Order: sequence, then C-alpha cells, then structure tokens
Amino acid sequence: MESTTLVLNNLVKTFGRQGEVLAVNNLNIEIRQGEFVTLLGPSGCGKTTTLRLIAGFEFPTSGQILLDGESLNDVPPNKRPMAMVFQNYALFPHMSVFDNVSYGLKVKRQAADLIRESVEIVMQLMNLVGMGDRMPHQLSGGQQQRVALARALVMQPKVLLFDEPLSNLDAKLRVQMRIEIRRLQQRLGITTVYVTHDQAEAMSLSDRIAIMRDGQLEQIGTPREIYQQPASIFVADFIGRANFIESCVQSCTDGQLTLELFGRMLTIPASQETFSTGEPVYLVIRPEAARVSRQAGNYTGEVKQAVYLGSTVEYEIETHDHFVSVVVYNPQQGDIFEEGDQVFLDLPSVAFHVLPRQTG
Ligand SMILES: Nc1ncnc2c1ncn2[C@@H]1O[C@H](COP(=O)(O)OP(=O)(O)O)[C@@H](O)[C@H]1O
Ligand SMILES: [Mg+2]
Repeated sequence: MESTTLVLNNLVKTFGRQGEVLAVNNLNIEIRQGEFVTLLGPSGCGKTTTLRLIAGFEFPTSGQILLDGESLNDVPPNKRPMAMVFQNYALFPHMSVFDNVSYGLKVKRQAADLIRESVEIVMQLMNLVGMGDRMPHQLSGGQQQRVALARALVMQPKVLLFDEPLSNLDAKLRVQMRIEIRRLQQRLGITTVYVTHDQAEAMSLSDRIAIMRDGQLEQIGTPREIYQQPASIFVADFIGRANFIESCVQSCTDGQLTLELFGRMLTIPASQETFSTGEPVYLVIRPEAARVSRQAGNYTGEVKQAVYLGSTVEYEIETHDHFVSVVVYNPQQGDIFEEGDQVFLDLPSVAFHVLPRQTG
C-alpha cells in the first residue's frame, strides 16, 4: 500500500506568447497508491492547471508526470486511466442519467450487457437507483453531482481527479457530499487528487494537503501537520487563524528554544528547524490556544473587542502594545468579558510554534 503511484516531477506550465504566465512553477509531489491528496490554495495559484496537466488536457512546459513509474507525457488524455469530476458537473444535458453514466463505456465499445451491469453497480453506490431515465434538468444539484461521480467511477479509473466539485452546492449539502466522497474513496481505495480553495473541505477529506501559492508548493502534510506545524506565515494564515508575535531567539540548545515575550522569558521545545542566537522570529499561536481569565495568567491585558457568536466568543486583547486574538469555545457566564475589562492572558508555551522572520 505504500507504493508511489502518481509523481509530479519538476512540473512547469507557462501560458502566454512569451510564457509570461507561470501557472505551475516547478512542482514536486509524490502521491501514494490509494491516497487522497488535496491541492489547496487561493484562486489563481495553479490548482486547476496542475489537475489538467495530470489529466492530460494540458501539456507540461517542462517536467514530467509519472504513473506507476511510467511517464505520461506522450499519453493522450483518453488513454490515461483517470477520470475527472468538474465543478459544473459537465453532464450531457440532452442525455438521460443512464446514457450519461454509460457514455465512456460505450465509447470504449464494451458489450451492452456488461455496460448495464457496471452502470447498475455505480448507480447503487451513488444512491441513484431508479433515476436512470431522468434527464439532468430533472435532478437537484446534489443528484447531478452524484451522476457526475458515477460517470467517473464507472470507468474504474486508477486516479480520480476533482476540481472544486462541491462549490455549486449549498452549505449543508456540501458537508454531506464531503462525507460521502471520503467514504466512497476509502471504500474503493482509488488514488485521488482533489482541488479546492475551501480549507474545511481540504481538512475533512484529505490524507495529505498540498498548499500551493503562486504555482509553487508551499507545504505538503497531513491536516494536523499543516495546522500544527505550518512551514510559513502564508500557511499559518491560510489554514485557520493565527497570532504572529515578533521576537528574537535568546538561545537554542538541545531541543530547547528560549525567547523573550512581552518582557518574560519563554522556553519552548524546538521543532526540526534550528535557530541561531539573536535570530528574529515570529512566535505563532492560534487564537483558541490562548486563554483569558479574571484571576490568573502570564500577562495582563485589556479587552479591546468582544464578539459573542454563541458557540464562541472572539476577543482582541491588548497586552504590552500588542493585540492578541483569542477565541473561547462554549463560553459560560463567568468567562464572558466586556470591552474595557482588565484581564489576564495565558499563552501556554507548549502552544507556540516558531517561524523565521525576515528583517530589512
Ligand atoms: N489557458 C490559459 N491561458 C493563460 N493563462 C492561464 C490559462 N489557464 C490558467 N491561466 C493562468 O494561470 C494561473 C493559474 O490558474 P489556475 O490553475 O486556473 O488557478 P486556480 O485553479 O488555482 O485558481 C492564473 O494566473 C491563470 O490566470
Ligand atoms: Mg481552479
């Protein structure tokens, strides 16, 4: 199960007469057999282009894509054992559900009874039993997306590709479909590359998330690694929220990092990265890791903003000329504060993550 299936090797794609648009900039990603990898990043960072390169709809400017060790560069899209599901479903509007789902197999000239059997299996899998005669416009958005997925699965692809498939669905349905896609993918064990700009979707679906920025890979890791050990400010800021507090390294010895924070010394376990004495860094802490209370805490502060949202309260606390965002979950009567309240702020040292900070 640990074998690598899909490899993107120094993948580059430029657009424009002079190649002035660098859509994919030297991408290296290795995807394992059966793995679910999501390409996540802001609009325009090169996600769709990467997916289209994998599918063969675009040809790489340089670099290679390998499937089970073989280069795909000279393999046309219809010969690649892949299937793609699009945001707009891309169903044939004048064809019934059955004809839509069976289309690819008919093109492959499979026997009619075999086709019927395969279609039946995926229709069952996708909860579409009894809908074979309907036309796409007689289906809800969620059902249309199920048909699109059935049409992809019926081809028994080695690799399943998704480009923002849930963006056109309403919020509740999106969460439901998310769970369904994940269950299906795990059950069938199909290697999957999924594109989205929605971080919750990426977190809930993926074995690993590849964060992209300006055509490059910023970080790849499990949802936990990405959240707990973001490799850059961009990642920390893109996934969830974070406070970035400027500091300098006082010392770095055997796995212990000593830094100054608001006039106090702080000792935290050093991550894989090594830092030198005097090096400027950011101390990164998530709002939900900080605590605010009336009686105890490392730092004194004042509530500058309090936003009550029912399941949470979001505070902006001013301390030592800095603003720190704090989120309190399940707020109870005693720990709801008002703007202007004098409070204590607790920033547990284990909750900090350290990132290098460029100066100049
Ligand atoms: N066919 C094309 N011609 C010119 N530029 C393109 C083309 N396709 C994509 N781009 C550009 O490449 C960059 C990456 O686009 P895309 O892969 O669609 O990003 P994403 O899917 O992450 O939003 C963008 O700057 C986009 O404008
Ligand atoms: Mg896109």
